[in-house]
Amino acid sequence: MLISDFEIIKYDELDSTQDEVYRLWRQNHKSKIVVLAKHQTAGRGRNKKVWESPEGSLYFSMLLHSHDLDNFFTEQLFLPLVVGLSLLELLKNIRVNCLIKWPNDIIYEDKKLAGVLCEKKDDAYIVGVGINVMTAPIDSAISLSKILKADMPKLDHLLTSFLEVFLRRLNCTNKFEIQKELNSFLYGKNEKAFFGNELVFIQGISDDGGLIILNGEKSVTLYSGEKVTLIRKLL
Ligand code: BTN
Repeated sequence: MLISDFEIIKYDELDSTQDEVYRLWRQNHKSKIVVLAKHQTAGRGRNKKVWESPEGSLYFSMLLHSHDLDNFFTEQLFLPLVVGLSLLELLKNIRVNCLIKWPNDIIYEDKKLAGVLCEKKDDAYIVGVGINVMTAPIDSAISLSKILKADMPKLDHLLTSFLEVFLRRLNCTNKFEIQKELNSFLYGKNEKAFFGNELVFIQGISDDGGLIILNGEKSVTLYSGEKVTLIRKLL
């Protein structure tokens, strides 16, 4: 897939770019689309959380049809993880070095800079990305403007750079290569954490995109975003 295959539709305001992509898809919108909004009135994150979306930051969603994706991406957790790796690469290109908090938060120095929401609707995937560019609406978040101070990239530039990196990365289906990269950028790797009431140790990412934690002697792999909280974040 090429960027030129995608129709980029821009709005000043939307409830949620995820919902607009879904509406367009329901109206039989055949093409590949990316929907961008200057701000959202009902932006949402994972686990039904609100994603505050004031003007100045980047909010977009893209529609991917399953037939355009290698099974590799749709069978496991790899789609959101590869979106995450693409965001890391794009941010590294502007000298902002981040880590991935499994499964899909982008963290800069312990604060959240971006989030990814992948939703499956029948035979389509809606990939949503929010990057805190000008504002960080909550205490545990940070914005690019705070990190960079000057030389801020334009929102359009961030979007096209993301699409370039992400579409290139969709060609890589070597799970060990992806696993290796994820492990080298995993937030909290080799640290102690709480998983529910249990004290665990974060070991790394499995070759199918799960999070491996060590609970006593027992190694367990998590596949959904159950809450694992780093101990040092509680101190
Ligand atoms: C998360 O960290 O929980 C995921 C946040 C995803 C936010 C983006 S902003 C663009 C798209 N539209 C939404 O309503 N959500 C996603």
